[in-house]
Amino acid sequence: MEIVIKKMLGNSAAPMDLLLEADPSEQNIKQYLKKGTVFLAELEKNIAGVMVLMPISPASMEIMNLAVDEKFRGKGIAKKLIAHAKQACADQNMDFLEIGTGNSSLDQLALYQKCGFRMKKVIENYFIVHYPEPIFENGIQCMDMVRLKMKIKKDS
Ligand SMILES: CC(C)(COP(=O)(O)OP(=O)(O)OC[C@H]1O[C@@H](n2cnc3c(N)ncnc32)[C@H](O)[C@@H]1OP(=O)(O)O)[C@@H](O)C(=O)NCCC(=O)NCCS
Repeated sequence: MEIVIKKMLGNSAAPMDLLLEADPSEQNIKQYLKKGTVFLAELEKNIAGVMVLMPISPASMEIMNLAVDEKFRGKGIAKKLIAHAKQACADQNMDFLEIGTGNSSLDQLALYQKCGFRMKKVIENYFIVHYPEPIFENGIQCMDMVRLKMKIKKDS
């Protein structure tokens, strides 16, 4: 089974159901879809995963959203999407790739560190201030945002 990563040409057809699995705020998603680039992971003609990549400074890109359809999880699709984001950063001469996740997102924190991200800071109460409903995962309330960052190695 070959996973193919494709850049979407227009973001209006981005798979909202899947994007909502990574970010419960449709309003937030619509904001970053305006400026971001959407990548789809296709597996045997199914949309198996999605990622939104957006510049946040002249030297940095951020993965704003990353989600894999439940049916296709555990097959390395998220790792492939992150590898694709690293390459896109290198191609655009960016220095850093960043991502933010919740204190309660334990599997995601494992995944991101396996891919080379390092924890840089914590934005306290981010999810309490920005989301109307309390979020729980792994029996833990999601309150703080953990910011992770990696240096992009460019081909010389
Ligand atoms: C987080 C998510 C994107 C991972 O996607 P995925 O394609 O299943 O991830 P991968 O197969 O590339 O797995 C990479 C790592 O994730 C972890 N992982 C994946 N599936 C897992 C599972 N079923 N249970 C526990 N850990 C798992 C493992 O650490 C794995 O590393 P390994 O290959 O060394 O074992 C997916 O679970 C998802 O869409 N979740 C809901 C949305 C979300 O939380 N997005 C991130 C918002 S911050």
